[in-house]
Amino acid sequence: MAMDLDALKRAAALKAVEYVRDGMVVGLGTGSTAKHMVMALGEKVRSGMQLRGVPTSQETATLAREQGIPLIDADNAWVIDVAIDGADQVDPAFNLIKGGGGALLKEKIVAASAKQFIVLVDQTKRVPALGGSFPLPIEVIPFGWGSTARAIEGLTKSSVILRERNGSPFHTEAGHVILDVHLARIDNPRELEIALTLIPGVVETGLFVGRTDLLIVGTAKGVETYPATRT
Ligand code: 5RP
Repeated sequence: MAMDLDALKRAAALKAVEYVRDGMVVGLGTGSTAKHMVMALGEKVRSGMQLRGVPTSQETATLAREQGIPLIDADNAWVIDVAIDGADQVDPAFNLIKGGGGALLKEKIVAASAKQFIVLVDQTKRVPALGGSFPLPIEVIPFGWGSTARAIEGLTKSSVILRERNGSPFHTEAGHVILDVHLARIDNPRELEIALTLIPGVVETGLFVGRTDLLIVGTAKGVETYPATRT
């Protein structure tokens, strides 16, 4: 029987919002898993919980407003109590690939500013090693993107594809473009992240290394939680 992945994502999201307490500032992730979390937080707000959100995309901001979640101005220096977000892949050390939805830059800024970073996935996102089935998104400056892509190809010995939407380059909310790198397997995500960010033109990578504090996995047998240590 086919798994209802959306139900697994929702179950993980419902577990995650149990970690949100009255008065908290919450980093709101982006994507189909994070959407369930925003909706569940909306219910909490309508039941009287006081919280404020920092959205990681316009899409999430729109949903949060619809749900009645007060948002903090992007220009503020936030203190985020907990950031909750999905991921495209999770390895056994809880390192992530993110950016399938193109929001990786804001997502990483928010995760890095949060006292606690909770990651939500359905069981299909867990992999023995990052890479392989999911390309690594890298956000780059549009100026000279072709040269940046060549430098990334040289470093990774992997093919690099400019992300498109409706036949045109996909632009992030910050006005950058995304290069999707088809790596066979990422043996050392930290080393790769550092090497990639040294290439001129690279703004940010979809590698989230050593940032997860808690992983919540929706599985066919129930929700599993895994505390992690930042490294
Ligand atoms: C967006 C992201 C998402 O968290 C990631 O793509 C997972 O999305 P989904 O929950 O829809 O599978 O990084 O930039």
